[in-house]
Amino acid sequence: MGSLFLIGAADHYFCKMLKIGEKIQIENAVVLAPMEDVTDQPFRRICRENGADIVYTEFVPSEAIIRDAGKSAKKMQFSEEERPVSIQIYGNQVEVMVEAAKRAEALGPDFLDINYGCPAKKIAGRGAGSGLLCYPDLMETITRQIVDSLKIPVTAKTRIGWDAASISIVETTRRLEQQGIKALTIHGRTKAQMFEGQADWDWIGKAKASAGIPIIGNGDITTPEFAREVFLKTGVDGLMIGRGAYGNPWIFSRTKHYLNTGILLPEPELEEKVTVMLRHLRYAIEFKGQHGLVSFRKHYPNYLKGFPNAAKLRASIVILNTYDSIAQTVTDFLGIKSVA
Ligand SMILES: Cc1cc2nc3c(=O)[nH]c(=O)nc-3n(C[C@H](O)[C@H](O)[C@H](O)COP(=O)(O)O)c2cc1C
Repeated sequence: MGSLFLIGAADHYFCKMLKIGEKIQIENAVVLAPMEDVTDQPFRRICRENGADIVYTEFVPSEAIIRDAGKSAKKMQFSEEERPVSIQIYGNQVEVMVEAAKRAEALGPDFLDINYGCPAKKIAGRGAGSGLLCYPDLMETITRQIVDSLKIPVTAKTRIGWDAASISIVETTRRLEQQGIKALTIHGRTKAQMFEGQADWDWIGKAKASAGIPIIGNGDITTPEFAREVFLKTGVDGLMIGRGAYGNPWIFSRTKHYLNTGILLPEPELEEKVTVMLRHLRYAIEFKGQHGLVSFRKHYPNYLKGFPNAAKLRASIVILNTYDSIAQTVTDFLGIKSVA
């Protein structure tokens, strides 16, 4: 369990330790959320370099892992620079989940995370992801059997309940803790909310108050100030950021700096942002080849938001098909010195 203590007179200096198993111990942890089609290896790497303390793969279907589907194998690949890294899996068949968890463990992640939070119809509607909130006994069985089958720590990620009338997070936390998970991430929305409304940090705080395991709080963190507010208010052991990292990987270093010192760093200068964007693009090409150029297009609007003539710049780079031509065009357009 983490502990909260104040150092010095000012209350903005505080230190909270996130422990996952024996090996992971991180002060004021701010971690990258798993996000399908977003947190691929290049995205995780750029977030780690910019301060994310832990990264997770996108969720991987357990059935596909045991079928040995190529796409799933690619999703589970990670590089050493990413550590600590977790592979996240989902499903609702006990034996399939256990076998998939063992195969994921064989790839050497620092821990395994089970998804009990996905609200998508094709997953929750079939009783996996957040669908398991309606079958808590099955959720317990899957969790227990995976915990007993692996040597690495097992964690889980969930939502506060199925809908507003059935908020179950305190009970879910108790049940999962009893099955031996080493930490629980809570996204403060119900399944019914999908991504609407606001994350309810009060429920995250109530779950934390009742828990004997570390709790990582998640939902709507887009600024260091909000991160600090919910960290202090709920006493959680770590924070997780998802959409707030889109085109903004330095949110991790800025947030950590603010939590550690109480000093709010400014946003990076335009040139620094471009440097990070181009490095992320390079990683995408390294990892995916030419397809990396195409899949990276979704990131340009996020990185270039607020830049002068951003739409024009975007239009001129999405048609280019080499890293060098993109880097040259961006630096010429913005009148900055060329970046590596
Ligand atoms: C595009 C997208 C894909 C997501 N995929 C996953 C996933 O694979 N596994 C998971 O546990 N949560 C997934 N989530 C949920 C996020 O991990 C996170 O809980 C949610 O976005 C709330 O955090 P945020 O407000 O910081 O974005 C996804 C969210 C988004 C927006």
